[in-house]
Amino acid sequence: MYLNLYETCPVEPVRGEGVYLVDKNGKRYLDLLSGLGVNLLGYNHPAIVKELKDIPPFLHLSNLYLHPLKEEVASILCSLTGMDFAFFTNSGTEAVEAALKFAWKKNPGKIVAFENSFHGRTLGSLSTSGMLKEQPFPRINTEIKFLPWGDAESVLKENPSILILEPLQGSGGPRVASREFYKAIMELKKHGTIIICDEIQSGLGRCGSFLASQRLGLKPDIVALGKGLGGGLPLGCVLLRKEIASTLSTGDHGTTMGGNFLALKLARVVIKEVLKLMGHAKELEKELHGNEGLGLFIGITTERKDEVMRKMLEEGVIIGKSARGIRLLPPLIIKKEELLPVWERIRSLL
Ligand SMILES: Cc1ncc(COP(=O)(O)O)c(C=O)c1O
Repeated sequence: MYLNLYETCPVEPVRGEGVYLVDKNGKRYLDLLSGLGVNLLGYNHPAIVKELKDIPPFLHLSNLYLHPLKEEVASILCSLTGMDFAFFTNSGTEAVEAALKFAWKKNPGKIVAFENSFHGRTLGSLSTSGMLKEQPFPRINTEIKFLPWGDAESVLKENPSILILEPLQGSGGPRVASREFYKAIMELKKHGTIIICDEIQSGLGRCGSFLASQRLGLKPDIVALGKGLGGGLPLGCVLLRKEIASTLSTGDHGTTMGGNFLALKLARVVIKEVLKLMGHAKELEKELHGNEGLGLFIGITTERKDEVMRKMLEEGVIIGKSARGIRLLPPLIIKKEELLPVWERIRSLL
């Protein structure tokens, strides 16, 4: 029997259509959570469907082979982010694991992370997830200090080897911190701290720029991507600077399936499409009064999240929650006239 470890939604979907999920009775739900942020282009986007019709020469080609497609997607991602190298993984948490290992190889020592952060469920990323601090599982064997999110002063008191942050906390937010906070993080970088930005939820155009860090003045040394990168197929990526890549050698890290051929084909489509949509995400942000997030990474603090979620579901709208309140991750294709009335309705229920 399937082991369900999730608090599941009572909808029984049979198909997806753009921004909607349709259940077995034909009821349409506006999906403002997009498969936990994966479906950046909504369901069955024509460009994705078209790409799927083009049967690739192989579905999987292991990392024992180099292929121009891998180089092409890596180069596109590097040029969009100003990074030098890309390594592909299967998931977000594996991108974080690789990011931590790569940072460690260059600069081993104390790690700073943030309260209420979420970086994934495998043991390395779990160890740096403030939100999972109380979970009864082992941690990686190094000092990890959790600082209050958004507190510039406490950042400036530290001198860690590695700092990991979500530019906007997702499961713990979404909430943009102050300019001073991001400046303080860049100050640490000047003293040699390796900055890892976990952009698994905030990246790929969701925040109105390719990476949220680009809007927030962060210049990370390592970036982790995941969620929507594979267009609905499992794909993560670690982007890194050459100074870090140069410390890595064959065998330092690996993955059997990471960088799966079909997932990379879809990634190329996703990247092309989100580049067209991120300006739209930035425009919509201006209309979302009360949004504490950035672009279409939408958050609002409330203690009434469960009631609001239930009520919205009755009204045919799927929304998400976070530790602070309500979290919306709509597909970037959503139209203003689809999003704004629902946003106002959510606010009226707070
Ligand atoms: C910011 C962040 N980091 C890491 C992860 C883990 O990604 P995955 O579930 O693909 O392992 C998530 C997933 O929600 C995330 O939001």
